[in-house]
Amino acid sequence: MPFKLAVLTSGGDAPGMNAAIRSVVRTGLNEGFQVSGVFHGLQGLLDDEIQPLHRGSVANILQRGGTMLKTSRCPKFHLKSYRKIAAANLRKQGIGGLIVIGGDGSFRGAQALQKDFGISTIGIPGTIDNDIPGTDETIGFDTAVNTALEAIDRIRDTATSHDRLFLVEVMGRHHGAIALQVGIAGGAERVLLPEVPFALKKLTRGLDRAIARGKKSSILVVAEGALGGKGAQLLDRQLLKAGYDPRICILGHTQRGGRPTARDRYLAAQLGAYAVKLLAKGRSGGMVGTDRGEVIFRPYGKLLQSKKKLSQDQMRLVEILAT
Ligand code: F6P
Repeated sequence: MPFKLAVLTSGGDAPGMNAAIRSVVRTGLNEGFQVSGVFHGLQGLLDDEIQPLHRGSVANILQRGGTMLKTSRCPKFHLKSYRKIAAANLRKQGIGGLIVIGGDGSFRGAQALQKDFGISTIGIPGTIDNDIPGTDETIGFDTAVNTALEAIDRIRDTATSHDRLFLVEVMGRHHGAIALQVGIAGGAERVLLPEVPFALKKLTRGLDRAIARGKKSSILVVAEGALGGKGAQLLDRQLLKAGYDPRICILGHTQRGGRPTARDRYLAAQLGAYAVKLLAKGRSGGMVGTDRGEVIFRPYGKLLQSKKKLSQDQMRLVEILAT
């Protein structure tokens, strides 16, 4: 009997997830597997939303944002009693391998499913946040950065025309990777990050110095998790009180949608194929990713205990380029 594997997307959607699903399905069929899709993420495993997929099921999705398999956040999966239901639903269909495209929370669920019930799992990092250690980049990050960059370039036009100060909030509740990269690419005067304590005095001193140098407009990029999770809205109130007249733009979920960039599609294609090949060789219990461009496999173990760190050099670069 051919080995059966299933694929699902879990957590926040990310552009490029469809490209990863397509890669898993077509590589899987090519390896002689039967491949099923689980709809609505880990929740779909509990609800038995598992359907066979064919080559044609994944036609014409490569260029689309979102995920054809739908997604969800599933707190129930923390409980072993629910994971037991998930394992039983997979076994009922003879599925022995599961590929989970998502973030670290989803990988924790996959790890527990494997440990408790022996389902072979492999994680593919898919989240716009780029907050998963052990891989250069996650699927969706590059698209999200480009989406935010396009918005910032537009805001720059109007900020310059009106000599205004703008606060642009980007996603990143716990990790400031989008803010930092788009801040550098978009020429932000300052980038405010969840990882760095906020000091209003330091910020206003910098703004005043820039005004004294003749700078008439500025863009501050604020990660949603900065200022203790209160983001650009709190900064707006504080700057108003301090006598500035900022404008605020919250990019929010616009960053989660849209056509994936070539880089995200390529990454998704590579990681999807590699995950399947590892399962074919009997390997599981970890995540695929890239290390300086090379595809790699890392066991969940240490990976899920560590946090991805922002580069100090990049943080310094924002300041150097803004002065
Ligand atoms: O996908 C990751 C992320 O976009 C975070 O940056 C953000 O805080 C969160 O998801 C919002 O998720 P949701 O819309 O599901 O609450």
